[in-house]
Amino acid sequence: MSLESIKYTRGSLEILDQLLLPLQTRYVKVQGVEDGWKVINKMQVRGAPAIAIVGCLSLAVELEKDNNADKKVMRQEIEGKLNYLVSARPTAVNIKLAADELINLANSLSADESVTPEEFKERFVSRIEGMLSKDIEDNKAIGRYGCEAILKSLEGDGPVRILTHCNTGSLATAGYGTALGVIRSLRESKRLDHVYCTETRPYNQGARLTAYELVHEKIPSTLIVDSVVSALMNSRRISAVVVGADRVAANGDTANKIGTYQIAIAAKHHGVPFYIAAPLTSIDMALRSGDRIKIEERPEREMTHVGEHRIAAPGISCWNPSFDVTPAALIAGIITEKGVFAPDKLSEINSK
Ligand code: MRU
Repeated sequence: MSLESIKYTRGSLEILDQLLLPLQTRYVKVQGVEDGWKVINKMQVRGAPAIAIVGCLSLAVELEKDNNADKKVMRQEIEGKLNYLVSARPTAVNIKLAADELINLANSLSADESVTPEEFKERFVSRIEGMLSKDIEDNKAIGRYGCEAILKSLEGDGPVRILTHCNTGSLATAGYGTALGVIRSLRESKRLDHVYCTETRPYNQGARLTAYELVHEKIPSTLIVDSVVSALMNSRRISAVVVGADRVAANGDTANKIGTYQIAIAAKHHGVPFYIAAPLTSIDMALRSGDRIKIEERPEREMTHVGEHRIAAPGISCWNPSFDVTPAALIAGIITEKGVFAPDKLSEINSK
C-alpha cells in the first residue's frame, strides 16, 4: 500500500503530520485557509508540490462551507486567501503559480455573466481537485523520463546506485514522488541496486521521511549523514544524484533543500551526473536567474534542538537557511513530465 499524505474528499481535508513521522502516524484536519497556512508554515506538510496542493485544497474546503452568492465578493475573497496562503513559505514557487492560475480562473468566472455563483464554485473547486491526479500523473512521467535518461547515460547494464537528498516522495507530493519517483521507476526497470539518502539536517527530511518511504517500499537503501557525501562518491560507484526542486529559474539555476549545492559540487568533482527532477509547476520562467530566488530562513531552534533536547551550546548564534541555489552549470539535466532538458534549454519546454 502506498503512503497517503493527503486525504481529501469534497469538503474534507486531512494531512499526515510530518512532524510526527516516522514514530507516529497521525492525520491533522485542515478545515480552511487558516489551518492550511498553519500546517504549511509549521512544516506538518512540506515539499513544493504538496505545499501547493494542500494550500489550494484548504481553500476548496473553505469554499464548500461558504454560502456567498455574490461572484464579485467570492472573487475578491479568493484572491486575498490565495495571496495569504502563498505567504506561508516563500521559496517553493508551485503554490504561487497555482495561485496565479486560480486567480485568473476566478476573474474569468466572475466576469462571465452566464456563470451562476453555484457554477463558479463548482468549477473553481473542481479545478483545485484536479491538481491531485495531475500531480501523480506528472510524477509518473518524470519517473519514466528520469529512468530512461539515467540508464542511457551509463555504460553497459551494470547496477545503478543513486544518491538523493531531502524528501521528494509520496509525502512531498500527491503521490509517487519526483526524484523518488525516478528511483521507483529505476526499481521497476530492475536495474536499481542501491539508494543512498542523506539525513538532511537540520529538519532531517532524509532520515525521518525518505528513509521511512524507502523502508516502506522495500527499496534497498542506506542512510548517510550529510557530510559523508564526498567520501561516498570517492569510495563507492554512484551512478547519478537525483534531487527535487523548490524553484528552478529560467536559466536552470535551482533552489532546493540546503546542502544540495555542496552535493552538486562533489558530484562535479567525482564525475557523477547530477539531475534535478521537478514538475513544470516548480519552474519559474519569470525569474532570470537563481540569485533572485528568495531563500527562507527557519527558526534556530531547528538547529539547536532535537525534539525537546538541546544539542547546541547555549548562547551560540545560528544561521539556518532552508534552501540553497545550485548553479545551472553543475546540473546535467532537469527531468520534467515533458522530458529531460539541459538547464540552458528550459525555454524549449513550451514548444513540447
Ligand atoms: O523544506 P521542505 O521539506 O519543504 O523542502 C523540500 C525540498 O527541498 C524538496 O526537495 C522539494 O520541495 C521537492 S519535493 C518534490
